Amino acid sequence: MKIAVLPGDGIGPEIVAQAVKVLAALRSDGMKIELEHAHIGGAGYDAAGDPLPDATLKLAQQSDAVLLGAVGGYQYDTLARPLRPEQGLLRIRKGLGLFANLRPALVYPELANASSLKPELVAGLDIMILRELTGDIYFGQPRGIRTLDNGERQGFDTMLYSESEIRRVAHVGFQIAMKRNKKVCSVDKANVLDTSMLWREIVTAVAQEYPAVELSHMYVDNAAMQLVRAPKQFDVIVTGNIFGDILSDEASMLTGSIGMLPSASLDANNKGLYEPCHGSAPDIAGKNIANPLATILSLAMMMRYTFAREDMAQRIESAVRKTLQNGLRTADIFEAGTQKVGTDAMGDAVVAAL
Ligand code: IPM
Ligand code: MG
Repeated sequence: MKIAVLPGDGIGPEIVAQAVKVLAALRSDGMKIELEHAHIGGAGYDAAGDPLPDATLKLAQQSDAVLLGAVGGYQYDTLARPLRPEQGLLRIRKGLGLFANLRPALVYPELANASSLKPELVAGLDIMILRELTGDIYFGQPRGIRTLDNGERQGFDTMLYSESEIRRVAHVGFQIAMKRNKKVCSVDKANVLDTSMLWREIVTAVAQEYPAVELSHMYVDNAAMQLVRAPKQFDVIVTGNIFGDILSDEASMLTGSIGMLPSASLDANNKGLYEPCHGSAPDIAGKNIANPLATILSLAMMMRYTFAREDMAQRIESAVRKTLQNGLRTADIFEAGTQKVGTDAMGDAVVAAL
């Protein structure tokens, strides 16, 4: 297993270091794991003047999988857009063709009280958000800020989806649903957007090939509401890039903390990039208080999807479960009666539980 490790910025290096400990433990058990580190985001800019240095993209292309921390920091906010850390992330997603972004929102019984919703609304929750990741308004051209004849400036972006882009992510959604509760909810804004009208038409057509799966459609505003009203009605949600960005942050709070949410971004051959859904949290960087579990759980997804090692995925997930059962909590999921620990100690506890 050749894994590129890209810690990035902010809390990225601290949380990735915990996942690397887990990999080291698996390696000492005899797994053949090869790691190589590289810079991305602000760290890429600092090291090579580019948020996605050529060497980093090349390493990622030559690896079986990529483990990424997070990108972004206040000190980069004034750079020109192409030099900003986020561009490194968007370019590596696009450069590797990672169109299918899986963001599971799973409520661990131990954390049902950490959710901002009533425990009975979220207990047992298990939904999979499938976000299209390389199209939509994120990448559509033209875009920019132009000056009109009257001298006023105008910002513009283009929402775009081609049939083939919709079709391939829809297939992934139905295939995932086949292994779960066989329900797909496609989220769009077809009452307003032409892009969404095409989205709905293509998803409906692809559904014909999966008669065992029940397909429903929902407007994104309603989906945002339903996610906090009755989240357990969902199994798999399939949606475009920007709606998926927003809904996955919302869904993360159902689980108690965005610090618990892993993700997988896959290409057509299950090669993938694995990262926590949360950002670089520069305000808490270097303080040893960030929650490393989303990153460690992303490793589990790597074992499951890229390496087809369901046994290893479950071993890592069980270790996380056990650590929570033992009462260990980072600050973001702390509650009375549990033991507050730092990033490092949480990583060590997961390794011990492995
Ligand atoms: C995410 C993040 C990124 C996105 C940012 C950092 C560019 O919010 O992975 O959800 O918008 O895709
Ligand atoms: Mg986001």
